[in-house]
Amino acid sequence: MSAVVVLAFDTSCDDTSCAILGTNIQSNIVISQNIIHEPYGGIMPEMAARTHFENIDKALQLAFEQAGCNIKDITHIAVTVGPGLLPSLLVGVSFAKGLAYRYNLPLIPINHIEGHIFASFVEKDMGFPFIVLIVSGAHTHLYLAEGIGKYKLLGKTLDDAVGEAFDKVARILQLGYPGGPIIDKLSKNGKADSFKIPKGLSKKNTLNFSFSGVKTYVKNLVEKSPTLSKTFVCDVAASFQRSCVEILCEKTLMALKKYNINRLVLAGGVSANSLLRAKMSELSQSFSFELFLPPLSLCTDNALMIAKATMFKLNVKFELSSIDANPSLTL
Ligand code: KG4
Ligand code: ZN
Repeated sequence: MSAVVVLAFDTSCDDTSCAILGTNIQSNIVISQNIIHEPYGGIMPEMAARTHFENIDKALQLAFEQAGCNIKDITHIAVTVGPGLLPSLLVGVSFAKGLAYRYNLPLIPINHIEGHIFASFVEKDMGFPFIVLIVSGAHTHLYLAEGIGKYKLLGKTLDDAVGEAFDKVARILQLGYPGGPIIDKLSKNGKADSFKIPKGLSKKNTLNFSFSGVKTYVKNLVEKSPTLSKTFVCDVAASFQRSCVEILCEKTLMALKKYNINRLVLAGGVSANSLLRAKMSELSQSFSFELFLPPLSLCTDNALMIAKATMFKLNVKFELSSIDANPSLTL
């Protein structure tokens, strides 16, 4: 049998991504739609789907070019089937199904969240069990990962996801989209102790999160402020970011202690946040746990993480007709 080479697609949200992964082959193409959605301060689902449709073949050609191979080298195709935006997911699933049918290749459906978990495995494989903190535009979830496909939900946000809160606060501060990276950058010029923003569910004996109070506090601050001066915006950004990071660190530490686990994996777009990475690294030293941070290029949506997750599912056979997009797929 020839060596495994996976061709993977992710069109769960607003990035069109295609990747190829084999023993000596690797490519990862991400065509961002940020410019298209920026004027709206959030993602327009129908527009996202149309743009995926326009870009997916280009992403595939670029992935082959970057990997220096072609369709004849591929042994498996994988695609994100959910969770995500239905119109966006449908583009990737239909395209991948078409390719699998035409070239008679097995198609493997992958959960986008499981993909994020495996982003950290691309550089270094690691063992189970571990706690995983998934922080993205749609998720703020803590899981105990006991093995492949064995994920126990420990806690989750009761309202906004932390990435969603970053994006909404950026909109309130009249910054661009996506808000996370902009707030991260501006925070470096602000004083994080300027405003004492309350931390939702902090000190409470629960592994659930809440970010809507943090966001509303910022909204009220902005409404009361006569101007949005640069200093004010940077100070609010830094105080907001600190509050969010403290909530995430507190709950994660609580989970590590409660389940007596000494490995932590960060996953999802917000794991690119510089303060979160620094604070988690400090905690891993102080509390002696091993920390796995995804490389910065693999924190946000990409198909290489989907290809990596596929490597653990090669033995399962799926009927093409049984594979479909599921926007509310859970782990
Ligand atoms: O995982 P992802 O690419 O897409 C979803 O599956 O949601 O995450 C996107 C989210 C956005 O909310 C974005 O603002 C946030 O990740 N994000 C960040 C940073 N980079 C991306 N949030 C905070 N700091 C960052 N550096
Ligand atoms: Zn994602």
